[in-house]
Order: sequence, then C-alpha cells, then structure tokens
Amino acid sequence: MSDKAILEIDGKKYEFPIIRGTENEVAIDVKALRTVTGGVITLDPGFKNTGSCSSTITFLDGEKGILRHRGYAIEELTKKASFLEVAYLIIFGELPTKEEFAKFDNDVKKESLVNEEMKEIVNGFPKNAHPMGMVSALTSALTAFNPKSVYVGTEDEMYKAIVILLAKFPVLAAWSHRRNKGLPLNYADNSLDYISNIMQMLFKLPTEEYKMNPIAVKAMDELLILHEDHEQNCSTSTVRISGSSHVGLFASVATGVSALWGELHGGANQAVLEMLEAIKEDGGGVEKFIARAKDKNDPFRLMGFGHRVYKNFDPRARIIKEACDELFEDLDLNDPVLEIAKHLEQVALKDEYFIKRKLFPNVDFYSGIIYRALGIPVEMFTVMFAIGRLPGWIAQWKEMRENHEPIGRPRQLYVGEPLRAFKEYSER
Ligand code: CMC
Repeated sequence: MSDKAILEIDGKKYEFPIIRGTENEVAIDVKALRTVTGGVITLDPGFKNTGSCSSTITFLDGEKGILRHRGYAIEELTKKASFLEVAYLIIFGELPTKEEFAKFDNDVKKESLVNEEMKEIVNGFPKNAHPMGMVSALTSALTAFNPKSVYVGTEDEMYKAIVILLAKFPVLAAWSHRRNKGLPLNYADNSLDYISNIMQMLFKLPTEEYKMNPIAVKAMDELLILHEDHEQNCSTSTVRISGSSHVGLFASVATGVSALWGELHGGANQAVLEMLEAIKEDGGGVEKFIARAKDKNDPFRLMGFGHRVYKNFDPRARIIKEACDELFEDLDLNDPVLEIAKHLEQVALKDEYFIKRKLFPNVDFYSGIIYRALGIPVEMFTVMFAIGRLPGWIAQWKEMRENHEPIGRPRQLYVGEPLRAFKEYSER
C-alpha cells in the first residue's frame, strides 16, 4: 500500500506522508499542510476524522469492539487486576511488580489526607449543589493547597502530583456526596485498599460499624477499571488541551471533570437511569420512548445508546451487563428498572433505525443500575465515572507533557461579515 497521500487543489498536487499505527490504522500526516499550500486548513467539526496525537496508552477498534490498555485486553484486566494496578499500568506503561505496586500503593496512601481548610470550601457549597460541580471546583482548589504541584517541571514533581491526585480525588468526590446528605466528611482509612476506601468514605456513619461487602467491592472495582481510559474522548481531549498550555495536572483534570459532566458524555449514566425511571413511571412500555428517539423533531435520544467510536457492541457494556447480572444474583437483588433496560435493549437492537446507524448500548447503559444497587445516589453516578477515569486523564496528560506536544490551538474557517465601516453610536 502507498505511503503517500496526494491532494490536488486548483490543479496543483501536494504529497503527504501516510503513517500507520501498531494495528495498521492509517493516518495522513497533514502537519505541513498550511505551510506547503500557503494557508489551506482541514475542517472537521467534532474531530470525527482527526487524530490529535499519537499515543501508546489505549487501543480501541470501534468496528470490532476491541479495547486494550498498553496491549492488555480489557476483558482480562477487569478479571485479573485491581483498579490501582490498572492505574499503574495505564500511567507508567507496564504492570507493576509486587515491589513496585507496594511502593505505589503506599505513596498514594501517604497522601490521602486533605487539608482541613478544604472543608470550609466544601461547606461553602449549597447543600443541593450538583456533586460534579463541587468536584471540579475542589480539584482546582487543590492547586492552592499544593503549590509545588502547580507547574510540574521535573519527573519527581510529576510523580508527586500523580500520587497526590490519585489519593485526594476520591476523598473530595466522597465529600461532595457527604455535603449533599449533610453527613460528616470522612477520611480514608489507610488499612483498606483503594476501592474499599471509596466505599467507606461514601457510606460509613459515625454511629455504627461499616460492614464492607466483598461482592460490592469487587463489582465496584470491576466497574471502575472499565472506565479507566478510553483514548481521546471529550474529557480526555479537554485535559490534554488544557495541559498543553503547561497548566498543571490538577487544573487540567478539573477541566476534564467539567467536560465529563455533560449528558452526551459521562453524564449519560445519570440520564439513563432517569430515562428508565421515566419509562417505569409511564407504565413500563418502551415503544413510546423508542419512537421519540427516532423522531427527528424531538430532541430526545435513547440515553446509553450510540458511541462516536463504537459501531459495534461497546465491549465495556458487554462486561457491565454480565457484572450486573452477577451482582443481582449474588446479592439476591431485584430492580424492575433492570428488566426495563433489558427489554429496551432488545427492542432497540431489532429496530431498523438503530441497526442502520449502528447504535448499540454503551458503557453508561447498565452502569447506573449497578451503582444504584451499590447504594450510590443517581447524582453521584457521573462522579463515580470521574473517579474511574482519573488514571486515564493522568496518563494522557503525562504522555502529552513527556512528548512535548505543542499547545492545542485549532484553526477555524471564518464565515462572518467582511470588513465594514463602524457605525457611530448616535447613528444606530
Ligand atoms: N438515540 C437516537 N438516535 C441517536 C442516538 C441515540 N442515543 N445516538 C445517535 N443517534 C443518531 C443521530 O440522530 C444520527 O442520526 P442521523 O444520521 O439520522 O442524523 C446518527 O445516529 C449519528 O449520531 P451522531 O450524533 O452524529 O453521532 P456522534 O458520534 O456525534 O454521537 C453520541 C455519539 C454518544 C454523542 C450519541 O450517540 C449520543 O448522543 N448518545 C446518547 C448519549 C450517550 O449515551 N452518551 C454516552 C456515550 S459513551 C460514554 C461516554 O462517552 O462518556
């Protein structure tokens, strides 16, 4: 196959190198386009055809439904590794040895205290503030309490910033929930593993012993592993672009949290459960909602369906669906919303509209049902996604800085007014 792409503009031909990825993905390298053509740009709203970087972190094939981190299949990682091990793999490139993991785990634990003054910020939020807004603001506020992590310059500073954020982010996330519920703000218990700690920080009451349920911890661990990285999605691209101005890790991740909040992205898990509840309220029939999703005059979309990259089953959705069934069986649970979700999926997958557009359930379709079964309130679903995605944001930010990527600054095609004479205020 050719290693050059030829572009013809006004009868003049330009050649651009073709570069191939590990799995034979093909990209046209247009870095020289403006220079050689004298100013021509590409136009690609939503970056549907544009690669913003080369990366060694995650491979996904949307047509075949494949997802791998650093070469390891997501199916294996969810079954054989823990959340923090996968975080290490994603951030540093290799599965940790026992010694490496013990050090990393210990370094994270050593940073799990959050400055007491942060509590004043937490308590300054209205009780009904959405936790995603709180978490974004609190992540940004971390810079004020950790000034050395603001302009990460050396490898040491980078490692320090990474462990600080991995340690403190779940504490802040848990605090946003505790603020909503008017509960005292819990700290981590360093005798526990990462996931058990998240559970106790969310749920432990000062008045009684908190009994950890290993089935729930395992389900949460698996669910959060599935969210750890997903290459150049909206929030990750936001983190990379913010960081490309050389703003520090915490400020960059704060922008990622905000981007994740939207219902076309991470906010979909909350939107899915609200949609399923609305179907239940309406009597449980899914047809009316499918018809609305297909109606071009109705802005309603089937939440948890469709994906920019997956044009086949999202492999994460497949794993989550199985985990959901296992959890419900193990805990002997019953939730009518799970039955509605399964029925909705069946009907949609047979519908010509969804078949033609290759719309399949995505990661958010079943995750909310698991979160709810674990006792997590609906407004916290996207925060759980953010805790899961944190290692991916960190790894992608680190890669961007280590590759010395240039500042992210897209071009545009101006289609506004041409030059015109200013109209004086008195004449308008
Ligand atoms: N329900 C009904 N129609 C849909 C849906 C849906 N969920 N998703 C896409 N379509 C239609 C869309 O109307 C368009 O139809 P047409 O070609 O007739 O104009 C076609 O499918 C292609 O959609 P698109 O909006 O051009 O595709 P996109 O790649 O820009 O958007 C998406 C991807 C995820 C934003 C979109 O599928 C969507 O809005 N899904 C619902 C929200 C959701 O579940 N988001 C979570 C995504 S996965 C996790 C994450 O990223 O955080």
